[in-house]
Amino acid sequence: MNESETGCLQLTESGKLRHLLTLRGLRRDFISDLLDRSEHYQHKPGTPPSRDKALDGRTVVNLFFEPSTRTRASFELAAKRMSADVLNLDVNMSSRKKGESILDTIYTLQAMQADVFVVRDASAGIPEFIARNVQPYVSVLNAGEADVSHPTQGLLDLLTIRQHKQNLDGLTVTVIGDLKHSRVARSLGEGLSIMGPNELRLVAPPELAPDMELYPQGVLVDDIDEAINGADVIMTLRIQRERIKGKSSLMTNHEYLQKYGLTEERLSRARPDAIVMHPGPMNRDVEIAGPVADGPQSVITQQVNNGLAIRMAVLAAVFESRQGQ
Ligand code: NCD
Repeated sequence: MNESETGCLQLTESGKLRHLLTLRGLRRDFISDLLDRSEHYQHKPGTPPSRDKALDGRTVVNLFFEPSTRTRASFELAAKRMSADVLNLDVNMSSRKKGESILDTIYTLQAMQADVFVVRDASAGIPEFIARNVQPYVSVLNAGEADVSHPTQGLLDLLTIRQHKQNLDGLTVTVIGDLKHSRVARSLGEGLSIMGPNELRLVAPPELAPDMELYPQGVLVDDIDEAINGADVIMTLRIQRERIKGKSSLMTNHEYLQKYGLTEERLSRARPDAIVMHPGPMNRDVEIAGPVADGPQSVITQQVNNGLAIRMAVLAAVFESRQGQ
């Protein structure tokens, strides 16, 4: 499917958000509005979270066919804080294990008045496939699609960067790690090119290098120190061993830290006000040294906090698109 077809699918005729499948094709002001709206759902640590009735009487179904901590928990809390009924389908105990097709599972839950499906799956194209087959009043939110796309993560990463750097252009952003399998990096790259221009530097072990056609505005840099030099933002990524088939010839954790890990020494080459990001889950002392993950430049817990606000904003936006239904 090409970009404009997916774009048509995810927006209503009046340009409102019907499904969120990808950041590709979204307009700059559309993304800015979503980020602004999510600021409204933020609250100071230690204070009660904001709550409203925007989703009162609605049902949000979490369908996670791959493991998740942050994304799943934050979608659940986001929906509950907006007064929705939330169903977390235990996929290991569901009839999919008995051979039911994904669409039959969807139709079953749709018959119970599900309004939103939040979907994570290891196969490319599943969120879009579901979006094409649900009723016109049902929305699909992509919560992680194979190595292809993770749009709410992309939005929360953009929000985190904007909060520290004030705007989202003219930045040097360095992403280090398993870029070959990272849907997080792809959505961030898409978001940065919409909001940019930005300089996107990518660093990966040769066997985990990305297809650079997916990063038209990125550059692959061999030397990690050169890539970090003067960066405003550094994101490190976990090696996604679950997506690497067969016996891996990858280096040991210690060798990886030596060659590709973000250590304090390496971080000192970035701008003094550079921020350090990681989508989680983290493997400490592999892709990121413990003191860097916990250090003053780390915004990793802020990313998590922003994830909740972004998911509330996205849920609010999809329900707004169907006002009157
Ligand atoms: C990431 C994912 O699932 O793509 N995690 C997340 O959603 N925060 C990254 C990963 O699993 O490494």
